[in-house]
Amino acid sequence: MATRKQSELYSGKAKTVYITDDPTQLILYFRDDTSAFDGKKIERFSRKGEINNKFNAFIMEKLAAAGIPTHFERLLSEQESLVKRLEMFPIECVVRNIATGSLCRRLGVQDGLDLDPPVFEFFLKDDARHDPMINEYHIRTFGWANPKQVEQMKEYTFRINDILKVLFLEAGLLLVDYKLEFGDVQGQVLLGDEFTPDGCRLWDVKTREKLDKDRFRHGLGGVTEAYEEVARRLGMPL
Ligand code: ATP
Ligand code: TYD
Repeated sequence: MATRKQSELYSGKAKTVYITDDPTQLILYFRDDTSAFDGKKIERFSRKGEINNKFNAFIMEKLAAAGIPTHFERLLSEQESLVKRLEMFPIECVVRNIATGSLCRRLGVQDGLDLDPPVFEFFLKDDARHDPMINEYHIRTFGWANPKQVEQMKEYTFRINDILKVLFLEAGLLLVDYKLEFGDVQGQVLLGDEFTPDGCRLWDVKTREKLDKDRFRHGLGGVTEAYEEVARRLGMPL
């Protein structure tokens, strides 16, 4: 039987989450909305929801095939996906292969510097406090996740880096940095939320042209065109 959408559970900055008639599953509706600077800059781009929904499905399936447990079940429509319902950790896991963005602002390091080994950072999901950077002690003390779950998140995040760096490089793209969110279901840590150009940075390997949400953040134009270009290079059906 097809899963049916019930009430809205949550409406975030880019997706709306729906409860379904199966309590173990949710529907993610990828809207055309794009936000930056903790929701202060918002714009709607035609087709962005559809592109991100399909982009996310493609990446989640690649990761699952490589042995990463994810919440993704299947595409339901142009802008909707069915996922396993998780108890999300209020944490963002960021890996950086090249220095840019907030790392450069915070530490004064040169934009574009190769980071070897890559840098791992945790942020607290709290827009009102501008997603402050936190460490494992904060996570443990405040009970946002237990030490075993923290280890799992770090392990999966680095394994995902190894998988996706190669995937993007073969498409002529540098995976500069990205953000992941994880959740728990029945004692298992699973990758949740999304992997799209909204939550990562991708540069052309030769020209270092930005092909991700920085085009929106910095008003460079061609936002959906850049996302489509990445999808095309990956051989993704759109
Ligand atoms: P941000 O952009 O900082 O992630 P947001 O809440 O505005 O915040 P959206 O992508 O618009 O982001 O909202 C989607 C919400 O759904 C997020 O809060 C995310 O943690 C949550 N979510 C994603 N996958 C699942 C899942 N499988 N189970 C439960 N919640 C999920
Ligand atoms: P970061 O450089 O900290 O953010 P900014 O320069 O936009 O302040 O972001 C690192 C990467 O993680 C980048 O690809 C964007 C992604 N990210 C999100 O998508 N959402 C977030 O809340 C955070 C902290 C990072």
